[in-house]
Amino acid sequence: MNNHSGSAAGQAADKGGGIPEIPNTNISETELQLKYIEACKDLIREQYPEGLRYFIQNEGCQMNNLQTETVAGMIRDMGCVSADSETDADVVIFNTCTVRENANQKIYGRLGRLKSIKRSRPDLKIVLFGCMMQEEHVVAKIRESYRFVDLVFGTHNMHKFPELFYHSLQSGGQIIDIWTDTDQIIEGLPCDRKYSFKTGVNIMFGCNNFCSYCIVPYVRGREKSRKPQAILQEIEDLASHGVTEVMLLGQNVNSYGKTLDTPVTFASLLREVEKIEGIRRIRFMTSHPKDLSDELIEVMASSSKICHHLHLPMQSGSSRILKKMNRHYDKERYLDLVSKIRTAVPDISLTTDIIVGFPGETEEDFCDTLDVVEKCGFDTAFTFIYSKRTGTPAASMEGQIPEDVVKERFGRLLDLVQKKGRERSGRFTGTVQEILVEEENREKGLLTGRTGYNLLVHFPGDPSLIGSYVKVRMDECKGFYYFGSILEENS
Ligand code: 5AD
Ligand code: SF4
Repeated sequence: MNNHSGSAAGQAADKGGGIPEIPNTNISETELQLKYIEACKDLIREQYPEGLRYFIQNEGCQMNNLQTETVAGMIRDMGCVSADSETDADVVIFNTCTVRENANQKIYGRLGRLKSIKRSRPDLKIVLFGCMMQEEHVVAKIRESYRFVDLVFGTHNMHKFPELFYHSLQSGGQIIDIWTDTDQIIEGLPCDRKYSFKTGVNIMFGCNNFCSYCIVPYVRGREKSRKPQAILQEIEDLASHGVTEVMLLGQNVNSYGKTLDTPVTFASLLREVEKIEGIRRIRFMTSHPKDLSDELIEVMASSSKICHHLHLPMQSGSSRILKKMNRHYDKERYLDLVSKIRTAVPDISLTTDIIVGFPGETEEDFCDTLDVVEKCGFDTAFTFIYSKRTGTPAASMEGQIPEDVVKERFGRLLDLVQKKGRERSGRFTGTVQEILVEEENREKGLLTGRTGYNLLVHFPGDPSLIGSYVKVRMDECKGFYYFGSILEENS
């Protein structure tokens, strides 16, 4: 069955003529794509006798990153090797983001550079996929002005990469295949993970919240949760291969499981993940304040594996703006929630996202945002200038804020966020923390790792410690990271 559900760009895939298809009767979508991986391998051997080198780059959030690792896993399994830069590669692949306009501009900038590389090397293949490709005007522009792009697909058919790439290798023309939505979740695809000891795990896809500024529900579609059995099986498998830290990922993990045939809560999923042997740290991202349950707070407080770090995007401190943002909570409720969490988990590290310059934001509204930052004590806040996204309700709201006003507010917010962040981070000075060692910091000749609170620490040590847990004294706070010294091995 062809599960092509149409095209946001109003165009079906143009796959060129006469290319043999792999029969897809009686096999799962995953099995089909694994067959295409094998078919690509054969074609690549013929077409690239010296091997095919690919350069893959991610833009955007951790969910995108995981999908980039999945596409990397698929092309790796075709027998290809990764290149260090675009100029060394036969195939350049970008997973795109469109949450703010500057993400789109970045991709257009990169395409400009690739155009000149492709002029001297016409065989260079360029592949674009992900969120930005779900926008009609983007695809129209690629079709008209970026004819040199070889393959374009979206967020809903990312699993089809092997099949589409097979056709691209055969046809040579521009292939664009965008789906408007899908109800499928494809399990068991290959994945080329950056670290062997920690990884993200998608637990759900899409978003149903329609915050009025946000394009995500339009480009990622309706919320779909993976079945708990599939998630637990994957984590067990990861644990058996040496993964000790998992980050459960979704646009709004607090509504995990609500749309399943047998609904389950996110808190109950966490309880099950906690039981998996070998997993030492559990993180999750992102939590919407409106859905953060008492049950979740209890599970966090009683767990020995869930990290005491919560990312709780507030977006604005003004109840009036929060209403216009369609966030379903107000300033008081956000503050109450933070105080409830701090009572249950006193050492919690709290981080947040804040948007400045939402349409209609007055000085008074902005002062409410500063007030919440002052009161909450965020360890880190990611601050964003409001970016108008075509098709979202906020884009047509009155009262778009002039750039100079937004910039001035943004500067004030950043100053406060940094001051409060430094104060919060400083609380660990002199303490001993358990660190998961992640990598070598070549510049400083040190190792780099993270505390359970998600704080980076650099310290002298042997690279053989990468992937293990060690006790480190937090000697010197440098604002948002520490210099430390190792106490004893703890792996
Ligand atoms: N403009 C600015 N920031 C945005 N975000 C989402 N949409 C926009 C936008 N249109 C921010 C929100 C979200 C984070 C991932 O990106 O703060 O939590
Ligand atoms: Fe966007 Fe809101 Fe969904 Fe987050 S919860 S992805 S901000 S619509």
